Amino acid sequence: MPEQIKCLAVAASPRKDGNTALLARQALAGCREAGAETEFLYLADYAYAPCRGCEACSKTGRCVVADDAKVIFDRILAADRLILAAPIFSMGICAQAKMLIDRAQQFWATKYVLKRPVIPEAALRPPRRGIYIATAGTNLPGVFDGAIRVVKYFFKMLEIDLTGTFCYPRVDAKGSVKDHPTALAECLQAGRELG
Ligand SMILES: Cc1cc2nc3c(=O)[nH]c(=O)nc-3n(C[C@H](O)[C@H](O)[C@H](O)COP(=O)(O)O)c2cc1C
Repeated sequence: MPEQIKCLAVAASPRKDGNTALLARQALAGCREAGAETEFLYLADYAYAPCRGCEACSKTGRCVVADDAKVIFDRILAADRLILAAPIFSMGICAQAKMLIDRAQQFWATKYVLKRPVIPEAALRPPRRGIYIATAGTNLPGVFDGAIRVVKYFFKMLEIDLTGTFCYPRVDAKGSVKDHPTALAECLQAGRELG
């Protein structure tokens, strides 16, 4: 029997049960419907520092800072599917997500400096895929552009195929995404297709 697909949702907003977390849970529910094993993780439950820019990872492919970033990346690397949910703060991806993404510099170094695979056993595993989910309070033109660019870079570093971005403007108050006409159903369906 084939192994169950592992889906991990990483919720980056500090607002627990906020809009992006709700959408991430919808997507995970879709993954479960499709038969996948699921895990939900709040970045707010972990303590990790920003990248020091020390470039030690260019020599070893590993980060020298010992904190929870390792725990989070171990979960991400073990997953076959990644749902990254992170709102727009100050016209970009929220700092909690960006800080983690900067810490993924070790994978960039592994790939492009050391020319080693990020996941050596990748060929023996299901192809890794994922989606990005975001909300923003406004509908300013280009409000999601910077975040999507960063997320594309992150997924590339981690050798995950970014198959969809689900971005919802004009969603501000906590939980107000529940009133959105399509967001919940779209994220549920995206999860079913991932799982
Ligand atoms: C510190 C902060 C900065 C924000 N900056 C923006 C912004 O630049 N543009 C925007 O459209 N919304 C902005 N917002 C609104 C959030 O994107 C919006 O409320 C979103 O739905 C929050 O998602 P969450 O409930 O998952 O945290 C900001 C919110 C906070 C708390």
